[in-house]
Amino acid sequence: MEGFVPTEDALRSIPAYELDVPMKSVLIGPDELSARVRVLGREISDTYRGSVPLLISVLKGGVVFLTDLMRAITIPHHIDFLQVSSYEGGTKTTGTVRIMSDLGSNIAGRDVLVVEDIVDTGLTLTYLLKQLEIRGPKSLRVCALLSKPDARRVDVPVAYLGFEIPDEFVVGYGLDYEEKYRNLPYIGILDL
Ligand code: IMP
Ligand code: MG
Repeated sequence: MEGFVPTEDALRSIPAYELDVPMKSVLIGPDELSARVRVLGREISDTYRGSVPLLISVLKGGVVFLTDLMRAITIPHHIDFLQVSSYEGGTKTTGTVRIMSDLGSNIAGRDVLVVEDIVDTGLTLTYLLKQLEIRGPKSLRVCALLSKPDARRVDVPVAYLGFEIPDEFVVGYGLDYEEKYRNLPYIGILDL
C-alpha cells in the first residue's frame, strides 16, 4: 500500500487530470483493489452458497464497490439500494443519520449483506443495521471496502473487510468529497 506508484497505463486511465485532484497520495491502487475484491467475492460466494443473498448497497459511495463485488461473486444473488445521509457535504460526520431513499425489496427472511464503502465513526452503519434488523432478515452482515479503526466511535461488526486505513479523508472508487472524485479508479488521500 505504502509508496504505491501507478503505472503509466493506470495513469492514462485515471481521469485525475480532468478533475484536477488535490491528491496527497494514492493509498490503494486499482490492481490492489481488484485483487482484494476478488478474494471478498470468493469468500461471500462460499458463505452464501445454497442461498440467494440480497446485497444492499449504500448509496452513493458503495455503488462502485458493489458493481465490482457482484461480478466477483459466483453464486446467484439479488441487489438493492438505499441512501442514507449523515455528512451533508463536509468531511466530518454530523451524527444525524437519515434514510433518504429506502429499499425496493422486502428483506424479511432473507440473507442480507450490506455493502458499504467505508466504516468511519460507525454511526451510519449502527443506525442502518438497527433499522434493517427490525424488518426480520434471516441474517444480516456487513461487507465494507474500507475501515478507519482509529475513527471508530461505536463498535460495528464487519464480516467482510477490504482494507484497514489510517484516519485520513479518502476519495475515489465511489468515495467523494463534495460529490467529486467518485470516478477515480484508486483510493487516494485528499490534500484538504
Ligand atoms: P460513519 O457514520 O462516520 O461511519 O461514516 C460513514 C459514511 O461517511 C461512509 O459511508 C461515507 O459515505 C462517509 N465517509 C466516511 N469517511 C469518509 C472518507 O474518508 N471519505 C469519503 N467519505 C467518507
Ligand atoms: Mg457510504
